[in-house]
Amino acid sequence: MTVVDGEEARAAVPAAVMRVHALRAAGVGVVVATRVDGLPEVLHWGRDVGEVVPEDADDLVLAVARAVSPSAFDAPWPVTILPTEQDGWEGRPGIAGQVGGRPLVPVWRDVVVHVEGQLLVVDAASDEVALHSEFALDDAGVLRVRHALTNSGTADVEVQALEAVLPVGERAAEVLDLAGRWTRERTPQRRAMTDGVHVRESRRGRTGHDAPTLTVLGTPGFDDTTGELWAVHPAWSADSVHRYDQLAEARPVLGAGELLRAGEVVLRPGETFTTPDTVFVWTDAGLDGVAARLHDSLRARPGHPRTPRPVVLNTWEAVYYRQELEPLLALARVAADVGVERFVLDDGWFTGRRSDTTALGDWTVDADVWPQGLGPLVAGVRALGMDFGLWFEPEMVSPVSELAVDHPDWLLQDPGRTRTWRHQYVLDLARADVREHVLDRMSAVIGAHHVDFVKWDQNRDVVQTVHAGRVGLDAHTRGAYAVMDELRRRHPWLEIEACASGGARVDLGVLERADRVWASDSNDAMERLPIQRWTELLLPLELIGSHVGPEVSHTTGRHLDLDFRMAVSLFGSAGIETDVTRCSPAELDRLREWTALYKRERGLLHSGRLHHLELGDPGLATTAVVARDRSRALVRVARTVTGPRSLAVPLRLRGLDRERRYRVAPVTGLRVPKGVDVTRTPWIERGSVELSGAVLEDVGVRLPALAPGTALVLEVRATG
Ligand code: GLA
Repeated sequence: MTVVDGEEARAAVPAAVMRVHALRAAGVGVVVATRVDGLPEVLHWGRDVGEVVPEDADDLVLAVARAVSPSAFDAPWPVTILPTEQDGWEGRPGIAGQVGGRPLVPVWRDVVVHVEGQLLVVDAASDEVALHSEFALDDAGVLRVRHALTNSGTADVEVQALEAVLPVGERAAEVLDLAGRWTRERTPQRRAMTDGVHVRESRRGRTGHDAPTLTVLGTPGFDDTTGELWAVHPAWSADSVHRYDQLAEARPVLGAGELLRAGEVVLRPGETFTTPDTVFVWTDAGLDGVAARLHDSLRARPGHPRTPRPVVLNTWEAVYYRQELEPLLALARVAADVGVERFVLDDGWFTGRRSDTTALGDWTVDADVWPQGLGPLVAGVRALGMDFGLWFEPEMVSPVSELAVDHPDWLLQDPGRTRTWRHQYVLDLARADVREHVLDRMSAVIGAHHVDFVKWDQNRDVVQTVHAGRVGLDAHTRGAYAVMDELRRRHPWLEIEACASGGARVDLGVLERADRVWASDSNDAMERLPIQRWTELLLPLELIGSHVGPEVSHTTGRHLDLDFRMAVSLFGSAGIETDVTRCSPAELDRLREWTALYKRERGLLHSGRLHHLELGDPGLATTAVVARDRSRALVRVARTVTGPRSLAVPLRLRGLDRERRYRVAPVTGLRVPKGVDVTRTPWIERGSVELSGAVLEDVGVRLPALAPGTALVLEVRATG
């Protein structure tokens, strides 16, 4: 064995010919070193370290990336933007594939790096493939990475992996990601980081109730407000890979990408495969810091919903499949009376749909259920001053449907081999004729009634897919996106809600063409608290559908007071999903006050900074939204279980102007919860308290004793 000592090893690297580029925004820096003989290397992703001047380049590279570990490769090697064994990287490769029966290990040449403002573009060639990679750091400090691989040779190239990875600080020690199931989406799980290649695959063909959503690596003990964190999210609605690699000889990396199945992506000469965006977030402000950057980034998008998010009434839990004109008009009248602005007719309106066993695909109005068509209902809804929304499940087909009989070859699955799920199969939206058919059927209904809002559902995992003899998931998913995009092009007023058996499609891929997500089929407000809290790690409140359900939850059987249910739905894209014709006059009054409150406060709720406050009582879930100018805040303190002490903890706020004075008072429109003995909390008995931002943040306001299943919503308003 030849031992190359450190001096020789360093001398072997022509560091002087390297250049270093920095992307900088909102306190985040990404420092990238170009190399003469291969792809660039990210030297740093984290706190902004300032401009990198050319004179610093050599020292920076030597300091950061040129150490040689013992009992390892003889010369230093880079963790490139697509690391492989070719470089020295023995973790999960960033790129994998095969060409002509041999492994695809491109020897990159002609590497060109362009930087334009906050965008860094890499182009590179090899004998088999050409690479085009983009690293875009937006004004919120969120980095989006996308790779495009083109077959530049003469043989077919199978792409098996093309993932985005970035190095993280070696002080990261804990990992948090999400899991879940139907009606319990986005449940956090946390553990110590350990050595090795750690991969979380999602193979459900849709984002999934159990999707990791974000993988977050952080410094020991990070929490909602403290800790340095590195987070990743693949903006993709089908199979995905989340991974971190912590190897003995290299800096740890974090990454994600689309999970590609054997034979799924085969590029003929000249063809290109472009990955979905992988979204990276660094912060030194804990989990709320991750959310803040993502929310700012999403809110800055041109397509972000900017009109006030309407109060919705969705018919599902009110009537299920029992659709009849008169009862639905009665429902609409009560809905409008309590302040609802959008009436959404859920599943059950199309030909033959009396249960979940039939008719998906037959998107014509059922003549038995709707002898006069949807016209009278839509006219009634509009006459009451409401928008009209309609449920579709465009990607699906029931075996018992005209569509399945007429076009058995349009299925993405072979019914002889694949199990049904909710009695349904998936249509092959990779096919242009299938896309056209779905678009035409949907457009006919949307156009005829000027439907304002489509609840786009997706109720099964998409497995065992076959398109043109190969796994068809990638092409199908892009096809579904294309249908959404074209639908919006044809009907520019249309809004789309992404739903998938509740919250199994919560990702930034679908949200490039959807206006909100349905977070969960659980309308149990107690269950909703954590579901919404963890959905908020990715999404701002205006994108999270949240409805006031019935007193007895249909999914858990739990009884919850109306005020609690309303307090939970208030912090979202709010609505009602219960038969309001059965509500008492007193309940309707309370709903009316609540919709008025939501309309008054949605401007703040849907633009402000979100804080999850840890008050030292694990039985409290506390969420605050602070206006961007710090003049106001709304705070919801919800009790889930009893607390450890008789004297409730003080509410300590965050994000206020420490110099200003604020008045804190229970919000108008929701009651102080039943059971609160105001005489024991004198400031509530008096109605309000006025203190400085500094006192409110560091000392706090004593909370009243809240019973489990109640919530107090407070308004905080600057007085000067
Ligand atoms: C899914 C959705 C529900 C409802 C039903 C209708 O489960 O998540 O909200 O629309 O489908 O079948």
